[in-house]
Amino acid sequence: MPSPAQLRKLKTLAKAAAGHAYAPYSRFRVGAAVLTESGKIFSGCNVENASYGLCNCAERTAIFSAVAAGEKKLKCVAVYTPTKTATAPCGACRQVIFEFGPTVRVVSNCDSRDQIDGSIRSLLPAAFGPDDLK
Ligand code: THU
Repeated sequence: MPSPAQLRKLKTLAKAAAGHAYAPYSRFRVGAAVLTESGKIFSGCNVENASYGLCNCAERTAIFSAVAAGEKKLKCVAVYTPTKTATAPCGACRQVIFEFGPTVRVVSNCDSRDQIDGSIRSLLPAAFGPDDLK
């Protein structure tokens, strides 16, 4: 579980990352920040492409940054969208979160008091994951 201070930092960094979103097609800006087991934090934004299928979500941008830095165990994922209701990670991102953090806490905030706060297990029940290939 992240400490209250870590959670505050994750939320701040997720919001800051949304400011870097490249979303000229959907105009839907998303920021994310992930806390790794060693206590490091990586953030990311959604990055779209004129070839729409190549769009990458903020969550995966942040997670892939963590993995590229050698951090493969996640503790918490924070998401921020400048919306009235909190945004839940898409199915693809839930699968990627589960790969690197089967016990991750997912927190999503927005511009109202609405919030999503739950485990990746609750967001992705009956998940297929690395253990299924053993
Ligand atoms: N998006 C994210 O970055 N994260 C989510 O959790 C939901 C969707 C992005 C993908 C695309 O760039 C835009 O939001 C609209 O789907």
